Amino acid sequence: MTERPATLITGASSGIGSALAWQAAAAGHDLVLTARRGYLLTELAEALTARHGGRVLTIEADLSLPDGADRLVNEVLASGWQVDHLINNAGLGACGPVAGLPPGRLLELLQVNLVSLTTLTRLLLPSMLDRGAGGILNVASLAAFQPGPDMAAYYASKAYVLSLSEALHEETRGSGVRISCLCPGPTSTGFAREATMEDSLLFRLGLMTAESVARAGWRGFQRGQRIIIPGWKNKLLATLGRLTPHVVSLRLIRRLHERA
Ligand SMILES: NC(=O)c1ccc[n+]([C@@H]2O[C@H](COP(=O)([O-])OP(=O)(O)OC[C@H]3O[C@@H](n4cnc5c(N)ncnc54)[C@H](OP(=O)(O)O)[C@@H]3O)[C@@H](O)[C@H]2O)c1
Repeated sequence: MTERPATLITGASSGIGSALAWQAAAAGHDLVLTARRGYLLTELAEALTARHGGRVLTIEADLSLPDGADRLVNEVLASGWQVDHLINNAGLGACGPVAGLPPGRLLELLQVNLVSLTTLTRLLLPSMLDRGAGGILNVASLAAFQPGPDMAAYYASKAYVLSLSEALHEETRGSGVRISCLCPGPTSTGFAREATMEDSLLFRLGLMTAESVARAGWRGFQRGQRIIIPGWKNKLLATLGRLTPHVVSLRLIRRLHERA
């Protein structure tokens, strides 16, 4: 590992990803920041280097494309960077019954939330294992703990991320590589607007800031925590999600997605 570890963060152009970039930079990491909106990455890179120094590489990449993750890794390696830590944060939601979702949006969600996350993990984990150091932080959601009618594919995608991360945590135990899964609850970012659910009950019940989610996520990742749930309210909701019979939680969750 180089003196300053390098962390690759997907979805770094806004919200939780951008806040995680600040955490990693403050901890002395060099950064590879990626997303589609390159101008936001450039602005962030300038602010980070001005404040914390270090190297920041920005790469515009669309992870909804079938070869998006492969191209991203090729570009990182061609630039001569070694990735010590990967933060799989990029993700999107889709609100409404599955039968009414635009098929393109559904594919985009599956490609970004599941396929690219898994491909990046598969491509970058082997070199971490060879070095016996580094790690992967996957960003799931409280949605991972129970099914979510009217946001079904999103909830299912996050259940996949949680399940994958927990299994990888065990597969890599004792290897020196850390695998953690961050499960935020509703957070004030561009996510709800992008998923057309800003006015849902869920997003009117009190939000955490991206900064506090990132702080908890980074701390838990450094400690090698398997699952990181930021905030006591979210911890309670995750427990309820796991323990409540689905016959009850299915209806409750559907109510939370209703618009004002
Ligand atoms: N906000 C919440 O309430 C909440 C709660 C639980 C979990 N999460 C999870 O937290 C993660 C970050 O979301 P956020 O809340 O910070 O929302 P956000 O501000 O909308 O950020 C989403 C990030 O994903 C990137 N992204 C989206 N589509 C992409 C694509 N096709 N290719 C590459 N990058 C793409 C976006 O960058 P570009 O648009 O520039 O490409 C952006 O940087 C997501 O995985 C989300 O599911 C959010």
